[in-house]
Amino acid sequence: MIRFAIGKAKPPWACCVFTKQSMRGAFIILLFFAAASSQGFALDNGLASTPPMGWNSWNAFQLAINEGKIRAAADFIATSGMKDDGYQYIVVDAGWKSKARDAQGRLVADPAKFPSGIKALADYIHDRGLKFGLYTDAGSEDCDSGAPGSRGHEELDARTFAEWGVDYLKEDWCHTEGLDARTAYETMSRAIQATGRPIVFSLCEWGDNEPWLWAAKVGNLWRTTGDGKDCWDCGGETASKKGGYPRGWTRILDAQIGLEQYAGPGHWNDPDLLLVGLPGLTVEEARSHFSLWAILAAPLMASCDLTAMPPAIANILKNEEVIGIDQDALGQQGTRVSARGAHEIWVRKLKDGGVAAVLFNRGKTNVVMRISAQDIGLGHSSTAQVRDVWRHENRGQLGAGYSTHVPAHGAVMLRINGSGM
Ligand code: GLA
Repeated sequence: MIRFAIGKAKPPWACCVFTKQSMRGAFIILLFFAAASSQGFALDNGLASTPPMGWNSWNAFQLAINEGKIRAAADFIATSGMKDDGYQYIVVDAGWKSKARDAQGRLVADPAKFPSGIKALADYIHDRGLKFGLYTDAGSEDCDSGAPGSRGHEELDARTFAEWGVDYLKEDWCHTEGLDARTAYETMSRAIQATGRPIVFSLCEWGDNEPWLWAAKVGNLWRTTGDGKDCWDCGGETASKKGGYPRGWTRILDAQIGLEQYAGPGHWNDPDLLLVGLPGLTVEEARSHFSLWAILAAPLMASCDLTAMPPAIANILKNEEVIGIDQDALGQQGTRVSARGAHEIWVRKLKDGGVAAVLFNRGKTNVVMRISAQDIGLGHSSTAQVRDVWRHENRGQLGAGYSTHVPAHGAVMLRINGSGM
């Protein structure tokens, strides 16, 4: 039975007649919602308390990936000792998707490249004690591959990823015309959180919209620049342009200065994948690059073909003392404290009160460089002990300063500890 309420009919304008009191109430409610929508969004997923470590398929293989190559990388990390060194996430970058969604609108893996499907790949990786990462894009299409992006499908895609067992999601920024970056990434972040699965969220909008100012509330790491390239300083012609222009690692390094204050446990600046082991860098340059990424508290995502790397490259990726500095629990990103011509000193504070320092020679000739007690904020002379972390050697007291040979394009990395620090 339908009952009709019989009473005094309200005049049509009744909705719009406000007393002074009701207007005050409405105003307060409006203020509350405005505050909630601007500040209320926060990420507290408890993940990435230190910068994420792992391997990403992009630099080695670009779109030419398949489940065999990903499994081989996972096997290598699990059996070579890299897992024990902290490498954990195996991230499948662009190239995994079919060109069309299925009848239910779900993303589908390319059946030729991933015949067993993504869930089976995730299981394989989990069975080896590792974690699984996947790529999508905030726009209508992924970068480079022409596959569908997640725009407008965030909830379904996040649910699909969670069902497959994804532990890390990288979301790129191609084909995003008309989108506001913060809103778009918040949409995916909410969708991930709604699944209830702990998923590290990696924003990849290349620093175009100054994500360091807002992304700590949205994700666990955010790219600060366009793509890195395996060259010393190429890409000068595009370095000042926004977006995914590739550039050499020293240019990416320079772009990190000034962003230190925004990084910390759970939220990291991401200067892009490691270029260690790619053909465009010498071993010396690769060692410098790895040292400086550790000073920056950068994510350490190896991205070469691990199964083909020579021992000199493996020794870089596996230096546990350098990794220990990158993963230091204080989570404080370091910076450049001095630059004399081509000779720079970069310093990072550590949880135990000590500091890590890199003596970096951008020049083309070998030099002797000196780090003084003042460079690291100590008095004129210090009894602090110096340790060379690449050579695994204690080098005695710092005194007024410590001098050492630094090869062309090379770096010496030190850990300095002592009472009074
Ligand atoms: C962009 C990203 C890269 C990589 C490629 C994939 O360029 O910045 O890191 O994911 O897309 O196409």
